[in-house]
Amino acid sequence: MLDLATTKVHDEARQGEQFAPFTNDPNSYGKRFYIESYGCQMNFADSEVVASILNKEGFGATRNVEEADLIFVNTCSIREKAEQTVRKRLTDFKRLKSGKPGTLIGVLGCMAERLKSKFLEEEKLVDIVVGPDAYRSLPRLIDEANDGQKSVNVLLSREETYADIAPVRLNSNGVSAFVSIMRGCNNMCSFCVVPFTRGRERSRDAASIIGECRDLFEQGYKEVTLLGQNVDSYHYIPKEGMEADAVSFASLLEQVAQISPELRVRFSTSHPKDITDDVLHTMAAYENICKCIHLPVQSGSTRVLQLMNRTYTREWYMKKVDRIREILPDCSITSDIIAGFCTETDEDHQDTLSIMDYSNYVYGYMFYYSERPGTLAQRRYQDDVPLELKKKRLQEIIEKQNQLSLNDYKKDVGQTYKVLIDGDSKRSSEQWVGRTSQNKVVIFPKQENAEHKKGDYVQVTISDCTQATLFGAIV
Ligand code: 5AD
Ligand code: SF4
Repeated sequence: MLDLATTKVHDEARQGEQFAPFTNDPNSYGKRFYIESYGCQMNFADSEVVASILNKEGFGATRNVEEADLIFVNTCSIREKAEQTVRKRLTDFKRLKSGKPGTLIGVLGCMAERLKSKFLEEEKLVDIVVGPDAYRSLPRLIDEANDGQKSVNVLLSREETYADIAPVRLNSNGVSAFVSIMRGCNNMCSFCVVPFTRGRERSRDAASIIGECRDLFEQGYKEVTLLGQNVDSYHYIPKEGMEADAVSFASLLEQVAQISPELRVRFSTSHPKDITDDVLHTMAAYENICKCIHLPVQSGSTRVLQLMNRTYTREWYMKKVDRIREILPDCSITSDIIAGFCTETDEDHQDTLSIMDYSNYVYGYMFYYSERPGTLAQRRYQDDVPLELKKKRLQEIIEKQNQLSLNDYKKDVGQTYKVLIDGDSKRSSEQWVGRTSQNKVVIFPKQENAEHKKGDYVQVTISDCTQATLFGAIV
C-alpha cells in the first residue's frame, strides 16, 4: 500500500525505500537490480527513470538485495545525517558483496555528484558513481564495471530533463504519481548544496509533461504532483522552428488541470519570491488544483534571510501569505524551517516562531542547520550556533508547529470534505485512508454494501482529529 506520506517533500518514512517489482510487467528478466532511495521526491522520481533505463537493459527490479546483480543507492547530500545513513548502508552491502563477488554496487544522485571520484577512493567497494544528469550513460557504465573498470559519470548538463523516458512507477498505489517538470536550481540559497549537485535550472518540454499526465490519467491515476526544486520559475521555451509559445508555470498548471476535472493536480516546491498572482488565480479557477502550497520560509528574521540569500524580507513573505489567503481562503500552507543558521540570535529565533504563528502552517519540515562543504555559507560564515542551542531551538519550533497543526485540524471537525481514497488504512482493511484537497490525511470506515474503491472521491464529514490525522464518516 502507498505510504500515506508520499506527497510530502522530504518524507522521513520513505528514506531507504526499495523498489518493488512491477507486478504487471509482461517481460521476464535474466538479471536483477535493487535500488534504495534517499532524499527528496525529485530523487524518488529519478529512481523511476533509472528503473526504466535498467528495464530496457534487461534488469528487473527486486526488493531482495541478496538476489541482486546490481545494487544502487540513490543518495542525498542535503544534511550531513543523510550522507551518514548512506555510508552505513554501503558497509552492509560490502558484506553482501564479499559473499557474492560479481555483484556491482553503484552510487547515484546528489552524494555521487558532490564527491565524484573521491567516492571510489573513500568507499573501495563502490564500482559505479553516477550524478543526477548522467543516468542515460548507465548501460555503458555497467558494461565497463562488468569488465572490471571502476566507472564514473558526474557530468552536469544544461539540457537533460529525461523528457522522453517514461518512468516505471513501481511503488505506486495506482492513484497518485509524481511528474518531474524541471531539474536543477539557480537560487543559490547560501545553506544549500543543491545548486552544486543538481546543476543549473532547466524546464522540461511542456508537451511531454502534459502527455505524461494524460497517460497517467488514462491508466487510472487520479492525482499528479508536478515536481521541481522551484516550480514557479518553470519557463519552457520551445526549440527553434517549433510553433508554440513559451509556457509559464501558471499556464502549465492550467493545461494539466484541463486534462480532466477528475484528476487532482499538486505541485512542489514554491520559492516565495517566484509564486505569482497568476498561479494563485489559476489555482482558484480550477477545483481540481489542490489548495495546498509548500512555501518554505527557512527563517523569520530579515537579517538571517539576507545571510541565507533568500532574496525576501520577513515583511515581504508575510505579504505573500496575505495574498494567498486573499485569493485562496481555503488554502493550506506548509513550510521548511532551519534552526540555528550562522549568527542566529535568540531574537532571530523568536522572529521565526512568530512568523510561524502568522503563517499558520498546517505542516512543517523542520531541521537544524547542517553545514555543507562547498556552499556559500560554508565559505563565508562561521557555523557558530552551538549544537545544543540549535537542538533546543529546533525543539521549540517543532512544539510550535505541533500546536499550530492541532489547532488547524481541530477547526476541520464538523466540516465535510471531498476526499480522494488512497487505499486501505494501515491499521485496518475495514477503513479507508484518503486525503483532502489541503493534503490532510483522513481515515474513515468503509461502508457496507457500498462499491467504493481506491481512486474514488467521497464526501467525508470530520468528527475527530489528532495533529496529523482527521477521522470521519462518508456522507
Ligand atoms: N541544513 C539544514 N537544512 C537544510 N535544508 C537545505 N539545506 C540545509 C542545510 N544545510 C533544508 C531547507 C530546504 C529543505 C529541503 O532542506 O529547509 O528547504
Ligand atoms: Fe533532493 Fe537536495 Fe537531497 Fe539532492 S540534496 S536528493 S536535491 S534534497
